[in-house]
Amino acid sequence: MNARAEPTHVTPAYDVERVRADFPILQVEVEGKPLVYLDNAASSQMPQPVIDRLVRYQTTEHANIHRAVHTLSERATAAYEEARAKLQRFINAPDVREVIFTSGTTEAINLVMHGYGRRFIKAGDEIILTTLEHHSNIVPWQMLAEETGAILRVLPINDAGELCLDDFEPLFNARTKLVGVSHVSNALGSINPVKQMIAMAHERGVPVLVDGAQAAPHLAVDVQDLDCDFYAFSGHKLCGPTGIGVLYGKAALLEKMQPFKGGGDMILSVSFENTVYNTIPYKFEAGTPPIAAAIGVGAAVDYLLAIGMDTIARHEHALLQYATGQLNDLPGLRLIGTAQDKAAVLSFTLDGIHPHDVGTLLNQEGIAVRTGHHCAQPVMTRFKVAATTRASFAFYNTMAEVDALVAGIRGVQKVFA
Ligand code: ALA
Repeated sequence: MNARAEPTHVTPAYDVERVRADFPILQVEVEGKPLVYLDNAASSQMPQPVIDRLVRYQTTEHANIHRAVHTLSERATAAYEEARAKLQRFINAPDVREVIFTSGTTEAINLVMHGYGRRFIKAGDEIILTTLEHHSNIVPWQMLAEETGAILRVLPINDAGELCLDDFEPLFNARTKLVGVSHVSNALGSINPVKQMIAMAHERGVPVLVDGAQAAPHLAVDVQDLDCDFYAFSGHKLCGPTGIGVLYGKAALLEKMQPFKGGGDMILSVSFENTVYNTIPYKFEAGTPPIAAAIGVGAAVDYLLAIGMDTIARHEHALLQYATGQLNDLPGLRLIGTAQDKAAVLSFTLDGIHPHDVGTLLNQEGIAVRTGHHCAQPVMTRFKVAATTRASFAFYNTMAEVDALVAGIRGVQKVFA
């Protein structure tokens, strides 16, 4: 009998309503209206399986890790290290020792600054950053420059909010010691050509730190494919808890770096004469880490991978396209950041209306957006604005929520007409 083969290339349709049902907070009302949560670039929300995992840990597994032989400590240690292995798979890191838990992206970048920068970057050495960086990938390097006499070079952006790649190569010289670049801009959503930039930097023997805070929740990240030397991201932007993040670093570099913080767990032996540091990754995890948060972010990446990062990216891209079309139709609205390759972030200004007023009035409609400089003041300066209103989408947002945003903006314009 000739049974008809099922097509294998057809992916099942993405059911956003089913996904939304996993997120209790999306049922919350704000100002008597259903919540329309569009501040995902600041923090995403947590699904029930992650909440359940945290409750299970706190109710049946909690103790300190790496320190005792009793059952709870062994359970907690196993769960914590299992979370590290989940994060390793999430970014396709070759070696689990290359995954360091930090308190977030900011701490991860500061770890590179202290561990790599203070050891290897000297007076007159140069660091290349970009105009698109979040303050957390600018200020640590300014602090290092102030301390050491190193020099910062900045790759500019064009009017669309894209990096001027032609200007990248001329920024290098014999003193260039590091490139720091965001994978996705938090303020504009531009997706930067980091793979190409890493290859260019490596041709000149320069390592690259990628700030992946806004990319890891939205794109499939493969650190081996990128060949980045460091990759930093946060748990709370990818449906996990706050207070947890990851620094991926190539083992060969991590081995050479000095520890960032001293204390328990980061040592093999201590005496007043001589202290021997622990192996990686523990060398960089001094003190009791955020154990529950690490286990929570492990559950979060399980959740995201079960949906599929490609599915997430596809849905968010559809939201971006629809929302961009709708917003472009609104008179008096200026979109800031129109890169060809963009994540689902829409930064905009409204003629004659301050973004804080926009945010306040949208909140009265239950719509959560971020207003301000988004910790990216050089981007604001480039576009000659002090602030924008930013709507940032996640895989649980809907086209109806885009419509709600558009109606909300029309309402704001009416108030100020
Ligand atoms: N960096 C986060 C944002 O862009 C907080 O909102």
